[in-house]
Amino acid sequence: MVSLDQTQLDEELDMTNIPEHIAIIMDGNGRWAQKRHLPRIAGHKQGMNTVKKITKAASDLGVKVLTLYAFSTENWKRPKDEVNYIMKLPVTFFNTFIPDLIKNNVRVNVMGYIDELPDATRDVVNKAIEDTKDCTGMVLNFALNYGSQAEITTAVQQIAKEVQAGQLSPEAISQETIEQHLMTHGLAPYSNPDLLVRTSGEERISNFLLWQIAYSEFVFVQDHWPDFGQQTLIDTIKIYQSRHRRYGGLNKK
Ligand code: FPP
Repeated sequence: MVSLDQTQLDEELDMTNIPEHIAIIMDGNGRWAQKRHLPRIAGHKQGMNTVKKITKAASDLGVKVLTLYAFSTENWKRPKDEVNYIMKLPVTFFNTFIPDLIKNNVRVNVMGYIDELPDATRDVVNKAIEDTKDCTGMVLNFALNYGSQAEITTAVQQIAKEVQAGQLSPEAISQETIEQHLMTHGLAPYSNPDLLVRTSGEERISNFLLWQIAYSEFVFVQDHWPDFGQQTLIDTIKIYQSRHRRYGGLNKK
């Protein structure tokens, strides 16, 4: 994997304003494959290679958290063969990429209903978290069997239980209480994405991080995920840097 050229980066980007948390909806694997008369799973395989490339690029840029939407709670509706294939991808990915992640000081985190994953997928994910637990650089955060409405529902159930047990009064429930019960809590102080990217020209959120994207900048790119490269990442960051974030106020934070 070629490293990004620092001089070129300094010319293209304001290196003091790199989004700390980038979240990506990796869309278009199927269409990428269909365009090439390949089975859809060939798109997912190529998409996995893009994950490797973009992980390295984001880490080189100094991104603190890269969240990738790999499988949603709704994706189980896909044909069984496709679901089985996607569930095997983390096994291939982590079995080949852990040494590179450690070399680049990247820590793996997974958010989602991990217990519902096939045994082999869950085991490899837990091993990846364990193997990289001492890494202090970028967090590579996979959303796997993740859905934001389910996440919020679970949070509400947990908070209700605390109220029922007398540990919390309803009046004491604050935005922070809710944030503490979301799956992104462990990513603090980078829980909320600064930049949300969706590939393949679709402009939807698809049940991704609904609470956390309240003030994220959205960038929609035409490339299908397997075609998303280092330069596309740099271009999306350039767009981000051209935005004026006001958080509901009048001035830049
Ligand atoms: C969306 O494209 C993609 C997915 C639902 C799967 C994403 C998975 C990967 C990119 C690989 C993940 C890798 C690891 C290591 C977990 P789509 O199938 O919806 O494309 P389409 O809209 O063109 O049909």
